[in-house]
Amino acid sequence: MLQTLRRSRISGVGKFLPPRIVKNQDLEKLMNTSDEWIKQRTGIEERRWIEPGMTNAAMGHEAAVQALKDAQKTPEDIDAIIYATLSPDHFFPGCGVMIQKSLCPGKTVPALDIKNQCSGFLYALSVADAWIKSGIYNCVLIVGGEIHSTGLDQSPEGRDIGVLFGDGAGAVIVEPTDKTGDGILVTKLHSEGEHLEKLWCHGPSSSDFPRLIKGSQVIGESYFPSMDGRFVFKNAVTRMCEVMVESCQSIGVKVKDIDFVVAHQANLRINSMVLEQLEVPAHKTLNTLQKYGNTTAATLPIGLQEAKEGGLLKPGQLVAMVAFGSGFTWGATLIRWS
Ligand SMILES: CC(C)(COP(=O)(O)OP(=O)(O)OC[C@H]1O[C@@H](n2cnc3c(N)ncnc32)[C@H](O)[C@@H]1OP(=O)(O)O)[C@@H](O)C(=O)NCCC(=O)NCCS
Repeated sequence: MLQTLRRSRISGVGKFLPPRIVKNQDLEKLMNTSDEWIKQRTGIEERRWIEPGMTNAAMGHEAAVQALKDAQKTPEDIDAIIYATLSPDHFFPGCGVMIQKSLCPGKTVPALDIKNQCSGFLYALSVADAWIKSGIYNCVLIVGGEIHSTGLDQSPEGRDIGVLFGDGAGAVIVEPTDKTGDGILVTKLHSEGEHLEKLWCHGPSSSDFPRLIKGSQVIGESYFPSMDGRFVFKNAVTRMCEVMVESCQSIGVKVKDIDFVVAHQANLRINSMVLEQLEVPAHKTLNTLQKYGNTTAATLPIGLQEAKEGGLLKPGQLVAMVAFGSGFTWGATLIRWS
């Protein structure tokens, strides 16, 4: 006889932002930009950039410790780790094993790395949800962490992308829930590799022959991210709206039933267009972009942490998370919060 699959819920949230605040005015000194342009076109006022010595995994560790505490768990309880990042500390191995080493040394739990940029956290959540539902694991740690600042073109020509991104990490604990109807209800994920070069970073690339030349430090244009901003903007609005509707339809609810939206933070104009098209009132969301810029895979868990800390997430609410990013990859999840 088929057994009903159990559900999973997010039982703890955490975040870590490096203390160094970089204001738009600071960037005016580095790039050909202005506070006015950045605020008007994106909504960003400041972002956090690391100081030398900080690592992606160290930020992830701090966020994970906070998430464990929030879930009333200890590192001993972790069954599996998933680390979403596009900016790992090393070419290989990924940050997952670094967290395993720092958080639960001697405990050989699996550690999986996910490279899906701004939607990385949703891809990670979908894997954790499947693991929990199928009974494979009972306590999954997900970390989304990014260090963008060390990879941005901070010269005058770097303004297109250099002003947009920030560093930081967020984490959640995913566990089974006993309450009927609670937890993660659905996650819908998509990709469209046709547009991969619309927002990407070519190098260092294994297909460059050779990849690197010993003894020489090559800093070519291809080592900096590049983006067709307008194209990405239009696709972000369309796809995030589509996937929200798709998610709702798949479980027989309406978009108007959603109580709170935690959306990816790339541009406030993108988010207000998405909410407007979906007819979701602005008070049903929160934006962190003004303070942190775009922190790609770290954005959603950071947003979730701030929403929970701010008392904006209440048991029984239908909470949506939605993201779009490089790949293109995008997705949405619906959670009955508990
Ligand atoms: C990047 C983005 C903010 C640019 O805004 P935009 O209104 O599309 O601006 P454009 O790229 O058309 O550029 C307009 C002008 O501003 C200039 N500009 C670009 N960056 C600038 C900056 N930081 N400061 C000042 N001027 C800038 C451009 O050179 C251009 O000048 P021109 O008209 O003389 O050619 C916007 O397209 C965007 O947010 N795109 C999506 C980003 C995104 O979602 N990314 C990640 C998904 S995870």
